[in-house]
Amino acid sequence: MNHLVSPSLLAADFGNLRSDVTMVNESEADWIHLDIMDGVFVPNISFGFPVMEYVKKDAKKPMDVHLMITEPDRYLSRFRDAGAEILTVQFEACTHLYRTVTEIRKLGMKAGVALNPHTPVSLLVNTLGYVDMILIMTVNPGFGGQLFIEGSYGKIRELRKMIDDAGYDVMIQVDGGVDTENAGKLIEAGVNVLVAGNAVFGSADPKKTIRQLKHLS
Ligand code: DX5
Ligand code: ZN
Repeated sequence: MNHLVSPSLLAADFGNLRSDVTMVNESEADWIHLDIMDGVFVPNISFGFPVMEYVKKDAKKPMDVHLMITEPDRYLSRFRDAGAEILTVQFEACTHLYRTVTEIRKLGMKAGVALNPHTPVSLLVNTLGYVDMILIMTVNPGFGGQLFIEGSYGKIRELRKMIDDAGYDVMIQVDGGVDTENAGKLIEAGVNVLVAGNAVFGSADPKKTIRQLKHLS
């Protein structure tokens, strides 16, 4: 499968959100990534349902929603109603992960599970059969513009092997410090979906950067 690109709106200009969503619509991006932070699971608060609903009105790409919140079970159907098509929960925030991912799928969304940098992929051995995507965090979640953790490649290769050996159809997404420099090596390690915030919205020509992330040489 060709890899997908999901620009993270966290790095967009919130005063001109519509024009940044339009830019993503007109670009070669496959999805649009929305980071929901509650100030408890991570030391930052981003945005919630009203903003998501406005983005949904304009977005022509599937909304890829990354929850960095505690007790995600309380809000799964509300995220679906606000427009999420892919819904990712943090492994560390879920006591009953099987129930959570099963419910996400029952609600008609693709289910993703995100791992913090310190969480080993081996903990997913009993989960891979019930999810559509695993998100490997390549920074500690909470903020855009952080430095990519170089030790992440081994973790991605290990997860790719686990998925392939067991014959599952599960995508690997990476998020945090992804740019045109490391994207090629990430795809080589087995990544299917690149999330990029500052690399896209902080560049002089965001559409061109998305095209570069999409067509790596
Ligand atoms: C971080 C978020 C990311 C963030 C990535 O907690 O999950 O999606 O927007 O931003 P960059 O690409 O700038 O590291
Ligand atoms: Zn994210």
